[in-house]
Amino acid sequence: MSVFKNVRRVTTHVLQNMKFQNEKISMLTAYDFSTAKIVDEAGIDAILVGDSAANVMAGHESTLPITLDQMIYHASSVVRAVERALVVVDLPFGSYQGNSKHALSSAIRIMKETGAHAIKIEGGIEIKESIDRILTAGIPIMGHLGLTPQSIHKFGTYSVRANNEQEAEKLVEDALILEQAGCFAVVLEKIPAKLATKVTTELKIPTIGIGAGSHVDGQILVIHDMLGITQEFSPRFLRRYHNLHEEIKGAVQSYITDVKKVDFPNSKEQY
Ligand code: KIV
Repeated sequence: MSVFKNVRRVTTHVLQNMKFQNEKISMLTAYDFSTAKIVDEAGIDAILVGDSAANVMAGHESTLPITLDQMIYHASSVVRAVERALVVVDLPFGSYQGNSKHALSSAIRIMKETGAHAIKIEGGIEIKESIDRILTAGIPIMGHLGLTPQSIHKFGTYSVRANNEQEAEKLVEDALILEQAGCFAVVLEKIPAKLATKVTTELKIPTIGIGAGSHVDGQILVIHDMLGITQEFSPRFLRRYHNLHEEIKGAVQSYITDVKKVDFPNSKEQY
């Protein structure tokens, strides 16, 4: 039984305490008001307004095309629905890399225009200056290491990351840099479970895994994937909790049949 269940509002400090007290952190993505409301009511600890919205909401092949304005639209919809969970928002590609002043102004727009509680950015030492600058404004940052989808064109594939010694060493170093800089948590995506365990043991801040095994401090999945709305994406780490694609399709087919048969609306469904 969760000792944190009755927390009125999950903050970054609550997540830190969850790590100290060995309670796993549950996190899912959401991009719109109605879904975020259900996820929050169900008792999720944290919601990520991920740039995966580019894939599952807009149908792009990568996360690169989504803009800061589009992220703000999604995030403000989510924030309006959420009463308890911590809401973290991805800074999209091109809004923080290479120029720390630009990074700070992007992060400030997210916080000011959406009411979210924290931002997430991908990368380690390469984006350290941006991290430092954003943190000086008092904006909490979640890091993201391992498979970083915004760098897909550098790596060429979505395969498992850091599965050789050199890359694994860099990932551990980057994780320590993020912690020392002041990030409140770090996402570890698609890396060997053994490496994720090592990082989780070495860090005092929580690690949130996706395809990183069970010895991390929390788990995150993309909600469209875990509900089975998406069908074509089937990595080993994904557990589908529902087949909403089939359910929704079935409901739509029933509706079409009822309309064609003039069975809908019936006499009670009209004025
Ligand atoms: O954008 C996203 O959904 C993410 C998660 C997969 C961690 O970054």
